[in-house]
Amino acid sequence: MIDKIKALIAEAEAFQAQSTAEVEAFRIKYLGKKGLLNDYFAEFKNVPNDQKKAFGQIINKLKSTAEEKVNALKEELETKEETKGVYGDLSRPGEPIEIGARHPISIVKNQIIDIFSRIGFNVSEGPEIEDDWHNFTALNLPEYHPARDMQDTFFIQTNPDVLLRTHTSSVQVRYMESHKPPIRTISPGRVFRNEAISARSHCFFHQVEGLYIDKDVSFADLKQTLQYFTTEMFGKSKIRLRPSYFPFTEPSAEVDVYWGLETETDYKMTKGTGWLEIMGCGMVDPNVLENCGIDSKEYSGFAFGMGIDRIALLLHQISDIRLLSENDVRFLEQFRSAL
Ligand code: DAH
Repeated sequence: MIDKIKALIAEAEAFQAQSTAEVEAFRIKYLGKKGLLNDYFAEFKNVPNDQKKAFGQIINKLKSTAEEKVNALKEELETKEETKGVYGDLSRPGEPIEIGARHPISIVKNQIIDIFSRIGFNVSEGPEIEDDWHNFTALNLPEYHPARDMQDTFFIQTNPDVLLRTHTSSVQVRYMESHKPPIRTISPGRVFRNEAISARSHCFFHQVEGLYIDKDVSFADLKQTLQYFTTEMFGKSKIRLRPSYFPFTEPSAEVDVYWGLETETDYKMTKGTGWLEIMGCGMVDPNVLENCGIDSKEYSGFAFGMGIDRIALLLHQISDIRLLSENDVRFLEQFRSAL
C-alpha cells in the first residue's frame, strides 16, 4: 500500500491543469469528502501498530502535496485569467475616464487672482469665524452704528463678539495689523449673511477684497486699477464710478462696467441700461488705517470688494445662485471646458 501511495504522490506532483475545473476535479479526487485521502485515513486503524508511524507520515505527505498543488495551480490559473481579461479583446472600446471640472466659483476666483497678481497683488486669507473688532469696529463701524444693519449677521451662539464674517473686509484689518505698508493684497473667501435663500440671494457667498496702501496713493490710482481689472476680466474698459457710502472708505463709490446692448442677453443682464454693477470701492478711511496701526498722515490707500458668485452667474449665464452650492454633477460637469 505504501508503494501505491508513493505512486499517487508522484502523480500529484506531476499533475498539470488547463482550467480551474480540472483543478477542482483533482481536488475532489484527492481531498474531497469521498476522496483518496479520506479512504487512507479511514484505513489507518487497520494498519498494524509497528507500521502506523510510516503509514501516517506517507499519507500526510500525500495530503500536503495535493493541497500545495491545488493552491499553486489555482493561483497560476487565476493570474492567467486576469491577464486574459485585461488584454484579451483589444478591439473593445476603452473605459471612459471621467475628467473632473473646476467649480465656477473657483474658475472666477482664479481669474481674479491671476489678474491682480500680474500687478503685484498677493493673496491673503482670514478666518470665516470672526470677532466684532475685525468685522465691524476696526472698519469704522462702532457698536450702534446704523450701517451695521446693512449686513444681517449670524452670531455664534449667544456671544455677540463671535460671528460669521459678513464680508472679506475683515481680512483687510487682519492684514494691516500684521503687515507694514506698502501693502498690495487681495483676499478671496466665503462670507455669510442671514438672508432668505432664493434664486437671487444666499446665506453664504464669496467675495474678493482688494487693498492697496502706500505713500501718495490717490483716487486716480484706484480708477486706473479698476479699469485694468475690467479690461482683463470682461474685455471691457469703459467704467463709471457712482458716489456711494461705505463706513470704511471715504470717498466711496460703486463701480459699473459698460457691458453694451448688442445682444438680447446684454439687455437681460443689464436690465436694458447697458451698465453692470460689479463692486464697491473707495479710499480707505483714515480711521481704519489708525485702527490697524498705520499712520494715516504718512500713508493712504484704496480698497474694493466684489462678489465672486455674482460675477460667475453673470459670466456663465446661470439663473439661480443655489446651483452654485448644490453640488449637482449635471451642473458642475458643464464647466469642464472652462479653465
Ligand atoms: N465690504 C463691502 C460689502 O460687503 C464691499 C466693499 C465695498 C469692500 C467697498 C471694500 C470697499 O473694500 O472699499 O458689501
